Amino acid sequence: MAEIIDGRAVARQLDDKTKAEVDALIAAGGPRPGLAVILVGADPASEVYVRRKIKACEKVGIVSLEERLPAETSQEELMGVIARLNADLSVHGILCQVPLPPHIDTRTVLGAIDPDKDVDGFHPVNVGRLSTGTGGIVPCTPLGIMILLETVIDDFVGKDAVVIGKSNIVGKPVAMLLLERECTVTVTHIYTADLPEIARKADIIVAAAGAPGLVRGDWVKPGAVIIDVGITRLMGEDGKEKLVGDVRFDEVQHAKAVTPVPGGVGPMTIACLLANTVQAAKALSAGAAGNADPYHDAPDRSLIYATSEGGAD
Ligand code: GUN
Repeated sequence: MAEIIDGRAVARQLDDKTKAEVDALIAAGGPRPGLAVILVGADPASEVYVRRKIKACEKVGIVSLEERLPAETSQEELMGVIARLNADLSVHGILCQVPLPPHIDTRTVLGAIDPDKDVDGFHPVNVGRLSTGTGGIVPCTPLGIMILLETVIDDFVGKDAVVIGKSNIVGKPVAMLLLERECTVTVTHIYTADLPEIARKADIIVAAAGAPGLVRGDWVKPGAVIIDVGITRLMGEDGKEKLVGDVRFDEVQHAKAVTPVPGGVGPMTIACLLANTVQAAKALSAGAAGNADPYHDAPDRSLIYATSEGGAD
């Protein structure tokens, strides 16, 4: 039987570590980290996410600031709110919940957030920092995936990793993080020829295609580690809605370890948002955000990872 990687338990441990970091920052004379969450309109799913994020802040001692704006808010007004939060020294993280109403250009708005406060890690500057190994803030779900992998893998160096899915939010950044740890990374997607053949060679599979049940048992080599990022809502035979991952969980029990859906990657995302906010507060208060030397410094992710190995080019 494959080991089940318990994302809820790992997320709780990360929250404990984040809370300890908050306490240590304040004890050292630093600021209490502050996260501003912007919600435009009243999309019910977004309301739920935002409520969860704000509640999670309280648990670890981060101050949250909710900026609720009506659906009719103009792009200029929203840009004004972001400019105000960028300039506010008590705010270290800014998250603008997406989707935004259709009259607002999401790319322009997300691009206006100060990259050093961009705790989602979506800003092109942070994407560039990640791909050049120059620090910055990493998107929450890929970070959560790496932390889960760390619970079952001691040494990443030279491992074959296959990422299924090429999204900007998961596939591409997680490929960069795996490269940073010296894995040999293959990024695939639903149009990749011979996907089962490629997956069968992997020591690590990150399935993030959003295709329920895509990864079958015979795609997985014995002893591989599988992270299932898919969460698709389907109607079960009993007429009840259920969440389904990209991996056929029952067929991959010859793997070394696998994440369940739900209870795997999902709980890590908010825990990583909190960790990113504290990282941003520390970097901003030290005046050190994103200033690693691309030729000499490996990015410091020691706040996040249990072990920080750095790495050669
Ligand atoms: N909407 C759904 N998930 C997210 C997220 O992680 N960040 C933002 N900004 N919006 C979201």
